[in-house]
Amino acid sequence: MSSQKAQLIDGSVAVVPRRGAPGAPRPGAEITGVDLRAIDDAAFAAIHRAWIDHQVLLFRDQHLTDHDLIAFSRRFGDLDHAPIQENGQSIANGMPEIYVVSNVIENGVAIGSLGHGEAVWHTDMSYLSAPPKASMLYALEVPPAGGDTSFVDMYAAFEALPDALRRRAMGLRVKHDGTYNSGGYVRLGVTPTDDPREAPGTLHPLICTHPESGRRMLYLGRRKMAWLEGFGLAESDALLDEIWSFATQKKFVWTHQWRVGDLVLWDNRCTMHRRDPFDANTRRVMHRTQVKGSAPPMA
Ligand code: OGA
Ligand code: MN
Repeated sequence: MSSQKAQLIDGSVAVVPRRGAPGAPRPGAEITGVDLRAIDDAAFAAIHRAWIDHQVLLFRDQHLTDHDLIAFSRRFGDLDHAPIQENGQSIANGMPEIYVVSNVIENGVAIGSLGHGEAVWHTDMSYLSAPPKASMLYALEVPPAGGDTSFVDMYAAFEALPDALRRRAMGLRVKHDGTYNSGGYVRLGVTPTDDPREAPGTLHPLICTHPESGRRMLYLGRRKMAWLEGFGLAESDALLDEIWSFATQKKFVWTHQWRVGDLVLWDNRCTMHRRDPFDANTRRVMHRTQVKGSAPPMA
């Protein structure tokens, strides 16, 4: 992230917004001068404000145990227990709040989820009625190349929507599919179908208002198996494709290249993220927490 107008917020803690092209806001700011193991209430309030303002925050050079990661995460609210891993293993390292995202296989058993492939654009668990408000990833091992994570700013995507497209999107609801996880794996206990109308999932407004910032955004979830309520499948796919290709333009995206010790925290309500694939023979180990949502996304 390039340095631009660092803003001192508390003691030595500073917010360094990401530089975007003029008129093209992107998500993301780096918070410097902070050790997440030891933050007081004033520093936390400043971090929370920056998270609402910038949607994605990067903290570098952290030294967190799982306990530290959980303690910092809990400041944002109650945590979800990690979803069951693709291999049916439920709790990594005996801590239900920690979800391991990794391609590493030890003694024939995957230590985490999502493998080494691409994770396509998504919002975490938007098939729930109250999806998580925040997720964070802490990098323990990173591959020499690949595995970058990108974030797209759904406020910016909404604000830039051409009028005609915005009018067509107004008032619609999208069915958010619950069949597949971020790595494209079928969620445990689900029998996949090709018809999004039959699949498990939840309807949410296509245009939502963020409960804390009051700003409006596009709320897309994920493309696969999405369906616009009341539409025929072909019409739904056509309009969704148009909105998706608009929303995921590079100018709304920030791509993060990981270093060990990075913690990235995102607002899961107003961003989507994706991950580049990486070489299966290299190691990537991330520990992750997820903060419970408090309310369904509202128009
Ligand atoms: C996630 C996720 C992508 C990554 O943890 O929710 O999508 O970069 N991870 O590992
Ligand atoms: Mn995800």
